[in-house]
Amino acid sequence: MGQKVALVTGGTGGIGTAICKELADMDYKVASNYRNEEKAQAWKKKRADEGYEFILVEGDVCDYEACGRMVAEIEEQAGPVDVLINNAGITRDTTFHKMDPSQWTDVINTDLSSVYNVTRHVIEGMRERRFGRVVNIASINGQRGQYGQANYAAAKAGMHGFSMALAQESAKHGITVNTVSPGYIATDMVMAVPERVREKIVAQIPMGRLGYPEDVAHVVGFLVSDKACFITGANLSVNGGHYMGW
Ligand code: CAA
Repeated sequence: MGQKVALVTGGTGGIGTAICKELADMDYKVASNYRNEEKAQAWKKKRADEGYEFILVEGDVCDYEACGRMVAEIEEQAGPVDVLINNAGITRDTTFHKMDPSQWTDVINTDLSSVYNVTRHVIEGMRERRFGRVVNIASINGQRGQYGQANYAAAKAGMHGFSMALAQESAKHGITVNTVSPGYIATDMVMAVPERVREKIVAQIPMGRLGYPEDVAHVVGFLVSDKACFITGANLSVNGGHYMGW
């Protein structure tokens, strides 16, 4: 059997890059989308220098039709998408009483509606082939809320509601759908939090450090593997003990 194909949205970001590498190390053909051509090509070159070959396709995850074209192009280049990692996401942190409509809709569209926009284009193929893995990258802040993130917490909590519903619809079709909820990981997104605020956050993490992107990527690798075949509709926290729920 040929290599399976994985699509990682937002693959050029901090956690996304680690997930792309993890899946490539597991012998998947890995594709990602991009919005900024120049940034994407620089990323691709850097990865090639490290020995990784990734497929990059232009596509805005906020745009349903564009996602359709993006999936079609990936399938033409690589074959049917067996594994989808909905990882693309942004923050627009501000307290709710100051939040303007664009800060709300940008985060809801990019972090939550994107999950519909991309998954809708791969789910029928997965059902026909009776195999699929969907992993949604949510956040600790969807589980517990976060001061300054009403938009992001709503989107990330919504991702897990989506996972549980689609998991129920997909279980009999050989498809698992799960959520991974990272805590504070050392990426540009977290480093953008003002230092004085970030220091207070790190002090609340029992393990006493930010996570590494690879800490998240390994869990994604497990969930897409055959070893995780009986796990669906689950949420796996990767947060150094920062939030313990069950
Ligand atoms: N709980 C209670 N009070 C808080 C608080 C908290 N968590 N955070 C801030 N406050 C209080 C402050 O103590 C301060 O109170 P006083 O005025 O009485 O001193 C007040 O709120 C204003 O705080 P700031 O000076 O920080 O206000 P600001 O307007 O400059 O910024 C903010 C507000 C944008 C929300 C800023 O506090 C911030 O960036 N917070 C971090 C938010 C965060 O954790 N984002 C995560 C980004 S990473 C990510 O999202 C990845 C992931 O999945 C984990």
